[in-house]
Amino acid sequence: MRLLEDTILKEGTPLSDSVLKVDTFINHQVDPSIMKEIGKAFADYYREKHIDKVVTIETSGIAPALFTAEELAVPLVILKKQTSKILGDDVVQTNITSFTKGTSYELTLSRKFISPGDNVVIIDDFLANGEAASGASKLIEACGGHVEGIGILIEKSFQKGRNRLVEAGYKVTSLARISHLAKGVIEYCEADL
Ligand code: G4P
Repeated sequence: MRLLEDTILKEGTPLSDSVLKVDTFINHQVDPSIMKEIGKAFADYYREKHIDKVVTIETSGIAPALFTAEELAVPLVILKKQTSKILGDDVVQTNITSFTKGTSYELTLSRKFISPGDNVVIIDDFLANGEAASGASKLIEACGGHVEGIGILIEKSFQKGRNRLVEAGYKVTSLARISHLAKGVIEYCEADL
């Protein structure tokens, strides 16, 4: 997506050869006009696929996922990050370890928000190693939902997330695909939309 790729080049800062800072429009301050265009792009792509729910992971996935859900006129479900296991029959949880941040948490979904047979699209801001997207898919499937696709704003194609998800049978659609990151350098390969 040209708008996102250009904004990353203008405002993004590579902090290392693996981490890109985008806090002026995605992670800290949020640019609603870009998020709205992202929502339209994802919605146009998924419109014919009869999506019942959009699912994201708090926090930075919420803005683009909300605009996608609004365009598709379906509810948005936000997967919560808990620091401890919550016991009870009404939630499903899976442990996620973030290699980028060196943290782990229990990704949590209340069963009442995904019904058996729901067709779901997952929207998230970054795809690195695919931990969060894999965990989210697992929770949706544990509730009987089907993951129609995974929509990503910024895929770091030099990390293993995309291959891992594709090998597991998921369809990944990324708006910007970074092939190489270094100090002062952001290089793209061809995006999916
Ligand atoms: P993975 O799910 O693909 O394996 O990714 P990983 O665990 O490595 O990333 C975990 C967190 O780090 C996620 O945020 C993700 O958005 C963020 N992240 C990964 N790579 C980058 C990067 O290059 N730049 C930035 N800015 N963030 C990155 P999170 O903990 O879920 O944070 P938030 O959504 O609450 O903001």
